[in-house]
This record gives sequence, C-alpha cells and structure tokens, in this order.
Amino acid sequence: MDHTSKTVYSCGILTISDKGSRGERVDTSGMQLKSQLSAKGFEIAAYDIVPDHQQTISKTLVDWVDHRRLDLIITTGGTGVSPNDLTPEATKEILDKEIPGISEAMRQASLQKTIHAMLSRSLAGIRKKSLIINLPGSEKAARENLESVLAALPHALYKIKGGSGDCGG
Ligand code: MTE
Repeated sequence: MDHTSKTVYSCGILTISDKGSRGERVDTSGMQLKSQLSAKGFEIAAYDIVPDHQQTISKTLVDWVDHRRLDLIITTGGTGVSPNDLTPEATKEILDKEIPGISEAMRQASLQKTIHAMLSRSLAGIRKKSLIINLPGSEKAARENLESVLAALPHALYKIKGGSGDCGG
C-alpha cells in the first residue's frame, strides 16, 4: 500500500460551455467525469457549468481554491482553437505554478486516438494547495484525457500538499 491510498481528496468539476450554461445541451462530459473520479475514490464536492467567459471561469476557479479549498479541480471544455475557447487563458492567470508534464502526457496519449489532439491547449497546474487540470469538452475527449493521467493524481496531490514520502516510481 502506498502513502496516498487511504486519503479521500475532494474534487470540483467545472464544465465550460456556452450552450450548457444556457441549458441547451446536456452535460454528458461532466457526468462522465463524475463517475470516473468517484470510481477512483475522489469525493465530488462541487459542480457547475459556466459560459466561455474568461473572467467567469477564473473567478470560479479562485473561489473553489481560495474559499472551498478543493483538492482537485477538473475543467472540461474551451481548450481548443475557436475564438470562444478561453479556458487555458482563464486558468493561466490564476495558477501559481504550471505542471506541463500533465498536459504533455494527455496530448501524447490523445494523439494515439486522434490527430486533433494537438488542437487542445489544455493546461495543468497548482494554485495554493490545489491541482487544476483542463480537459477538452467532448465526453469522449474528456474521458480519454483524464484516463491518461488519473493514476498519477493521488501522488501529485500528496506532494502538492507537502507530503515528503518517497516517490518510489
Ligand atoms: N483528445 C482525445 N483524447 N480525444 C478527442 O476526441 N478531441 C480533440 C482534442 N483532444 C479529442 C482530444 C478536439 S477535436 C479538439 S478541437 C480539442 O481537443 C479541443 O477541444 P475543446 O475545444 O472541446 O476543449
């Protein structure tokens, strides 16, 4: 058993979609992420849908870190190259440190599934003691991207919170 296996981390899922926020689309990606994260032992402590509006996204992220102190925040949507896609910009402005390896790993794994994986500009990083990860918006893309990094997240959170145990591979 490793040092992280008994910790229950809290998680927020933030869906970023103009249509979803107006109730014009069922948020299947958010539902998919909830079940994937619950199955891995995360407690789903927050969930919301906001439009592709940079300030709204960054304000929600700040609230979920600074006031609700969520351990992990997963965003889905708005990482691409359309004029409205502003999730990486909103995330970058509130991060203390980026973790490029997480987004690199997601893009590397995703390129095995679709050439369009290179169009996701998703970021991952740390604000205070919380880990924030952007995922693309479709249910399939969200599932595949999370799947490729999920196993590393408990150890990442342990270290972000100051854990000094052995990394052990
Ligand atoms: N990654 C995986 N694993 N599977 C996918 O189907 N879709 C791509 C990419 N990453 C995809 C993926 C597509 S088509 C786009 S446009 C970008 O993610 C950005 O998606 P977003 O704008 O919904 O965030």
